[in-house]
Amino acid sequence: MTKERLSGTLAVITGASSGIGAATARALASEGATVVVLARRLDRLTELVAEIESTGGTARAREVDVTDADAVSRVIASIGEEFGRIDILVNNAGFLSNRPAVEASLADWHQMVDVNINGVLNTTHAALPLVTAAVGGARDIADIVTISSVAGRRVPRPESNVYSATKHAVTAFSEAIRRELAEKRVRVGVVEPGVVRSEMTTGDSVGAPDATQGAPLLAEDIADAIVYIVTRPAHAAVNEILIRPSEQTL
Ligand SMILES: NC(=O)c1ccc[n+]([C@@H]2O[C@H](COP(=O)([O-])OP(=O)(O)OC[C@H]3O[C@@H](n4cnc5c(N)ncnc54)[C@H](OP(=O)(O)O)[C@@H]3O)[C@@H](O)[C@H]2O)c1
Repeated sequence: MTKERLSGTLAVITGASSGIGAATARALASEGATVVVLARRLDRLTELVAEIESTGGTARAREVDVTDADAVSRVIASIGEEFGRIDILVNNAGFLSNRPAVEASLADWHQMVDVNINGVLNTTHAALPLVTAAVGGARDIADIVTISSVAGRRVPRPESNVYSATKHAVTAFSEAIRRELAEKRVRVGVVEPGVVRSEMTTGDSVGAPDATQGAPLLAEDIADAIVYIVTRPAHAAVNEILIRPSEQTL
């Protein structure tokens, strides 16, 4: 049994109804954090909460579309009323549509900008007062972790066009707020996964793992990286983790 390193903390995870977000919620809860899981599919979140609570954890579900700034603001305000602070914010919700520009749907391009950039901005902006409010307690540090991508560091393939642009944007935004928030004792980090097996890469969005790139990562591999970041001692900030499947070259 792991020693619980996050007892007494409150973690909020967006996009927790599947994949990396759900795995992260399980992992943070197993470290003793109370987790509030956000997404649009409330039925999935409710199942996840029941699973976490059946193993002794504490969890809450909140239905929200991260592209709706007012809705995000209301949900974060309700978290503030119940808990008064957010120790760990994980900006994970994302949408991928990898298609050549000449074939792409403009609606998909806009959806990637709305979820992958505006979703991060809506959530971070609403949560910041509660994140800074977490500093000064027993842990005396707070964390914002955003899931960028290998595609936030480079353009892995031409079809990555807008997805890559959105992930570069959140990597840049994270670096800016890292510099601003360091003196407030809020650590800011990005995790940049290569191909991870999830609904995103097994659906019809042409993000499917390339057979020549070997076995994909699992959602739990990324959850591990997030746990590593938020369990460092208060004097150490891990600002960036790039993690690829061993055989991925892109
Ligand atoms: N899979 C990969 O290979 C890979 C690689 C690098 C980075 N990433 C990033 O990792 C993150 C998680 O992806 P994943 O692989 O775990 O994919 P996933 O299983 O498809 O999960 C995406 C999550 O985002 C949520 N979401 C999407 N649109 C939303 C919206 N408008 N409002 C609220 N929630 C929304 C979904 O929940 P609902 O549909 O219930 O709302 C779901 O929980 C994303 O940011 C993705 O870009 C993934």
